[in-house]
Amino acid sequence: MKRVIIIGASSGMGMEVAKLLLAEGCRLGVAARREDRLQALKQLAPDRVEVQAIDVTAEDATSRLRSLIDRLGGMDLFFYASGIGKQNRTLTPDFELNTVNTNGMGFTRMIGEAYRYFAERGEGHIVAITSIAGTKGLGPAPSYSATKAFQNVYLQSLEQQANARKLNIRFTDIRPGFVDTDLLSGDFRYPMMLKPEKVARQIVSAIHSRRHVKVIDWRYALLTALWRRLPRPLWRHLKL
Ligand SMILES: NC(=O)c1ccc[n+]([C@@H]2O[C@H](COP(=O)([O-])OP(=O)(O)OC[C@H]3O[C@@H](n4cnc5c(N)ncnc54)[C@H](OP(=O)(O)O)[C@@H]3O)[C@@H](O)[C@H]2O)c1
Repeated sequence: MKRVIIIGASSGMGMEVAKLLLAEGCRLGVAARREDRLQALKQLAPDRVEVQAIDVTAEDATSRLRSLIDRLGGMDLFFYASGIGKQNRTLTPDFELNTVNTNGMGFTRMIGEAYRYFAERGEGHIVAITSIAGTKGLGPAPSYSATKAFQNVYLQSLEQQANARKLNIRFTDIRPGFVDTDLLSGDFRYPMMLKPEKVARQIVSAIHSRRHVKVIDWRYALLTALWRRLPRPLWRHLKL
């Protein structure tokens, strides 16, 4: 029975993936700030779910993660689904800095602890939801786009380092397009919106097939391939 830690299991894709993994018989250690929602998740399989409140921006987040791993009896798979983001065309400083803190610092803190744990143990699998927003700089959401690019490159760096150190650690970078979760709630209508339940099934499939990078869905894979090919002068003048 696989032991899986999910950071960001209180809503959205993290919660949907948690439900699918429970249905597969996994044992879960679930974390986020909203403990009531985690407790509701635990009710689905009380003897197979451990709950831990963790704020990834807090310094005690890594010791809380270690304590959750201990209560689960170890960790085989680390699934990182935490994050914040929204459009910030006015560049409100609080939001820009909080995004860097959560998606940059928090991500580095938690992924690093999982990496060190798997390095000590000799094997493991790290999966993180990043985004297609890291493909190129997106004007409407600068800190979000920049932190997602950071996450993409950070995972790529760790993967190279793990190979160089001959560590048996696998990495899967999940890059969805727009998904209908709390993160996108508000008045703005997003195009090509995906259902979180459907995205979660594709995430679980990417985990099983041990993909390195998975863009969800195929339409966003085509779109980002096109974005990459656009010359800088053209990208600079795009109206998003
Ligand atoms: N929705 C999209 O269109 C989309 C597209 C591509 C990528 N993504 C990425 O997918 C990931 C999951 O987002 P979602 O769309 O599923 O949205 P969501 O429903 O808002 O889920 C975000 C999760 O992150 C957790 N979280 C936020 N800040 C945290 C903190 N400081 N400490 C611990 N946990 C924290 C939240 O839990 P608490 O609030 O309970 O702490 C929640 O469980 C994010 O990284 C997001 O950037 C989303």
